[in-house]
Formats: sequence, C-alpha cells, structure tokens
Amino acid sequence: MGSNLLLNIASKGHTVAGFDVDSAKVEGLRGRSEGMQIRAYQDPAAFAAALAPPRPMLLLVPAGRIVDEAIESLLPHLSPGDFVIDGGNSHYKDTARRASTLEANGYGFLGLGVSGGERGARLGPAMMAGGTPENYARVQAVLESAAAKFEGEPCVALVGAGPAGHYVKMVHNGIEYAMMQSIAEVYDVLRRVLGHSLQDAANVFDRWTSSPLGGFLIEITASILAYRNPDDPDPLVELVLDKAKAKGTGKWTTQDAMDLGVPIPTIDASVSARQLSESRETRMKLATLIATPGSAVKPSLGAEELGLALEAAFWCAYIQGLSLIQAASHEYGFGTDLRKVTRIWRAGCIVRSRLLVPLAEASDRVSNRDHLLTDPALAARVTTLLPHLRTAVAASAEAGIPVPCLGASLSYLDGYRTARLPANIIQAQRDLFGAHGFERTDRPGVHHSDWGQP
Ligand code: 3PG
Repeated sequence: MGSNLLLNIASKGHTVAGFDVDSAKVEGLRGRSEGMQIRAYQDPAAFAAALAPPRPMLLLVPAGRIVDEAIESLLPHLSPGDFVIDGGNSHYKDTARRASTLEANGYGFLGLGVSGGERGARLGPAMMAGGTPENYARVQAVLESAAAKFEGEPCVALVGAGPAGHYVKMVHNGIEYAMMQSIAEVYDVLRRVLGHSLQDAANVFDRWTSSPLGGFLIEITASILAYRNPDDPDPLVELVLDKAKAKGTGKWTTQDAMDLGVPIPTIDASVSARQLSESRETRMKLATLIATPGSAVKPSLGAEELGLALEAAFWCAYIQGLSLIQAASHEYGFGTDLRKVTRIWRAGCIVRSRLLVPLAEASDRVSNRDHLLTDPALAARVTTLLPHLRTAVAASAEAGIPVPCLGASLSYLDGYRTARLPANIIQAQRDLFGAHGFERTDRPGVHHSDWGQP
C-alpha cells in the first residue's frame, strides 16, 4: 500500500523519496517508478538526506509497535519543522501519544486514515486527516491530488483535531465490518433459504451493483461469487475456510462505543460474528448436537426484498458509526463535522456506496448533536425498508440461519421507534435489589420503593 500511494503521489507530478528496510520492496519501487520523480532508499539517513527540510514523511506500516520503531529510526535524521504523517490503521490513543512526543521535540505529526486498499492507494484512496490546520495545510495540495474524486471533489479532509483522523478511520472500519457481515448473511439467506445456486447469487449481487446499495463491497462480492480459478474443481469462494480473521479496528470501534455509551449493535454483532466463526471445531460438534429447523421458506421473501433488508442494515451501519463519531467528537474535543466525513466517504474508500449521497445530504440537515435518524428523509426511507428487513429476519430465524447483523439492525430500528421501552422493568429490578432509585413518569425526582418485599 505504501509504494502504491507513493507511486500515486509521484504520478501527479510531485517529487518523492521512498524508504523501506526490505530491499525487495526498495527494488520493486525502483522498477515501477519509470518516468516519475521517485528515489528509493533502504537507509533512513540517505532517505532523509534526499529531501529538503522541512520534510513531510508519510509512514504506511502495520499498526502497533512497528509504527514506533519506524518513527524511532527516523528521529535521528529529523530537523526542526519536519513532520511525520502516520497513514496506517493506528489506534487513536497511540496517535495522540505519538503526536505529543513528536510535537514536544519540535516536530509535527498528522494521523491520516487511508482507505481503499492496495488498489485504492494507487488509483485514489479516501483519506481522513487529524491534527492541526497548519500541518494539514502543508500537505493538503499533495493529498488532494492523490485522493479519489467524487464529482471533482477530492475525498480527503481534515476531520478534526489530534487523533481524529485515525478515530474516523477506525469507525470507518467498524462500518466496513458491519457491511461485510450483512452481505455475508444475505448471501447465506439467498443460498440456504431461497435455494439460489452460487451463479444465481452472483447474478443477484451483480444486479445490486446498479441499485441504491451499489458500491465497492457489493461489486467485489459479485466478482468473488462469479470467480472460478481454472486450477480448482469448485468455485474458489466455496473452497475458502469459513473462519474470518480481523486485525482489530472493528473491535476497537466496539470497545470505544461501549466506553462512550453509544449503541452500535450492528457493528458489535459483526465483530462477534467473526469471533464466533473462529470456533469452527465447536461449531462442527454442535452441528450434530443441536437440530436444524426444517426448511421454512417464506413465500413472500424474494431476492429483491433481501436487497431492501440489506439496504436497511447498511443504513444502520452508517448511522451507528456516525453517531459514534458525533459522540467522540464532543467527548474528546475533535470538532469533527459529519458533513465532511460523509462527503469524503463518497468515493475511494471501502465503505463507499450510493447511499453516501443521501447520507451526506442528511448530514447537512441534522445538527451535529441530533441523531441522524431524526432527519425526515432518512426516517422515511428506513420506514419503507423496515417491513422487508422484518420479513428477512423472520424467514432466516424460521430456517435457523444466523443473521446477527440483520437481526441487530432490526432491533436497533425497532428500539429507536419505540416510545416506551421496557427499561422501566430494569430500573425497578435495580431499585429492588440495589436501592439504585428510579425516576417516575408522573412526578420529578429520584424515588425508591420496597416493591412489597418484607
Ligand atoms: C482495512 O483497513 O480495511 C483492513 O485491512 C481490514 O481490516 P481487517 O483486516 O480487520 O478485516
């Protein structure tokens, strides 16, 4: 991804130098840089010497200790005014720590979330920067030239102070987990509830590429389902082991949402679903111990209705993620504007879909404190989709097909449209066994009862 982003920047006419400890990567970059102003180095001193100070240095390395090691290897070669940009998937708390260490030493730091995968890095990713406006201004023109464009607008912005860029990228990935899991569930329902062949399922996803759902994840799923490796007896996707790995950004999203008290159940369910998939041996054992219900195909459920259910789950993923960003912005003082976030996600990033256009419009109408679902146009769309999501979840439940993200989305929407929830029971229970007190609907104050207990 690093060399691809470098090639992308160089292809826009900028002069760049690249550095990697791996000689094969350095050679690889040299081999791909023909006609561009690129120099490649394996030695940090030579790399730094190739650039005129003050130098912006962009790191693209895996999150964790390796980022600290990369910064440590550059430190002896930095001059005052240089600044480091971390373009990896770093945890936002690490970004805050690195920024204060570097800034205390007279260097600048920018946390930059980069989305779009390897191809996106070369062709135009979406980028979410966090830090000071001064540091951002120093690289804004370069980043804008390399970023994906939506109707001519570059998909990069300063999304807030401090580690806001990595926070927004973390939540982007949480949304990505939820969208991917929802797609996987709908694929499963197509195959095991509606009895579609793999080719039929591929055709359905192919049709959805030009529907409101259309976007990167639907497109790659259509390609994956249609792909046959000539060396394999079966379509490749059928040969892939059903254990989903994760690098952690989805889990971090869930952890932070719990800390901030923001409900993001569709995203939570997607993280748990990957974890459950890892217990393959237990699943294989239990498959013989717990009976599967007999097939109960709902005649009313069709592929197009499933597409509407998937759209509802996508809305939930976006809305939950953006609600978390809203809360984090207030709590941590990022000053993030959802209108910027939704706009830079319209192209280049993994979660891009056509739904981002009405979502960006909704973010113009709703204040940064209000829940996005209070936007009348979003509420109306969700109202239209809800019966289809309900039918899909009901049919899956009857057939014994797990749909954690679709189910969580349904309960999220049902929860938010319920004026009186049974939380009164929780409060009464807490008061009965712990004297925690409760508020009443008919008079102010905090009350306590013995609930008729001796
Ligand atoms: C990304 O940044 O999108 C990651 O590559 C995907 O995260 P994962 O490996 O945890 O799925």
